[in-house]
Amino acid sequence: PKTILIGAPIQSGAAQPGCLMGPASLRTAGLPAVLAELGWQVEDRGDLAIGAQAARAHANPAIHDLAETAAWIGALTEAAYAAARESDRPVFLGGDHALAAGTIAGVARAAAEAGAPLFVLWLDAHTDLHTLATTESGNLHGTPVAYLIGEEGFSDYPPLSHPVAPENICMMGIRSVDPAERARLRACPIEVHDMRALDETGVLAPLRAFLARVRAAGGRLHVSLDVDFLDPAIAPAVGTTVPGGATFREAHLIMEELCDAGLVTSLDLVELNPFLDERGRTAKLLTDLTASLFGRRVLDRMTRSFG
Ligand code: ARG
Ligand code: MN
Ligand code: MN
Ligand code: MN
Repeated sequence: PKTILIGAPIQSGAAQPGCLMGPASLRTAGLPAVLAELGWQVEDRGDLAIGAQAARAHANPAIHDLAETAAWIGALTEAAYAAARESDRPVFLGGDHALAAGTIAGVARAAAEAGAPLFVLWLDAHTDLHTLATTESGNLHGTPVAYLIGEEGFSDYPPLSHPVAPENICMMGIRSVDPAERARLRACPIEVHDMRALDETGVLAPLRAFLARVRAAGGRLHVSLDVDFLDPAIAPAVGTTVPGGATFREAHLIMEELCDAGLVTSLDLVELNPFLDERGRTAKLLTDLTASLFGRRVLDRMTRSFG
């Protein structure tokens, strides 16, 4: 199988600078070589870039870096569309989470042309469900999901050719939701497993139920992994830490289950801020989690059953 790596050094959607260095940190941690060792053909397309953008104002005065973020979304949509057509499982190396507005728009277009519905597994402390009108922080990494499901009020972002059906989105790890996002969730059928729910059920039961839905629909599956999904104690390199995140073992279990299901067709690794890392540990953890998704395992279960 073939993967295409695309670096997206976007940080205009975040409050703190540093995500710019995310792709370099993931490459330094060895991600391309790890995937190659697992038997994947790896084509690293390097980092995308956008030109200088004239500043653009918005009626919501909190919003910053609108023109730059919109340009990134447009560039990423085209790059992700091409990468989805040209490989089995592209990986987008972020960059802040605003990038998902582009990567998912692009892979959704490719899926639609192939006649397959797109599903999204959103692993995050946050729902990122703000519109440009409701964001209070003005940090546009809080907006990609609302854009992708076709909410109103995104005329400053590129037109969206293929919205994602909200019922095809499954969120896990949620533990920080703003009032406007909470109101929007009530009105829309996104499947949400907040941290309380995961404490009650574990991660595997809801994940398997979601994967069964993807399989039954003949769908493609995009995974968007925000570093803050993970507990800050194991993944400190993120500007928006929230206590009580996924453990090392929960995160690997999710990736191993996704590997076994064989349904994942694209992946975002987002919000890594290497300026906040400790000796590269967060970049290494993301690399190891990606390895679990791409086939690394401790034992070969087929030959190691003790029935
Ligand atoms: N809801 C908060 C905001 O809108 C936090 C968003 C965090 N998003 C992220 N991709 N880290 O500012
Ligand atoms: Mn996020
Ligand atoms: Mn987050
Ligand atoms: Mn907010």
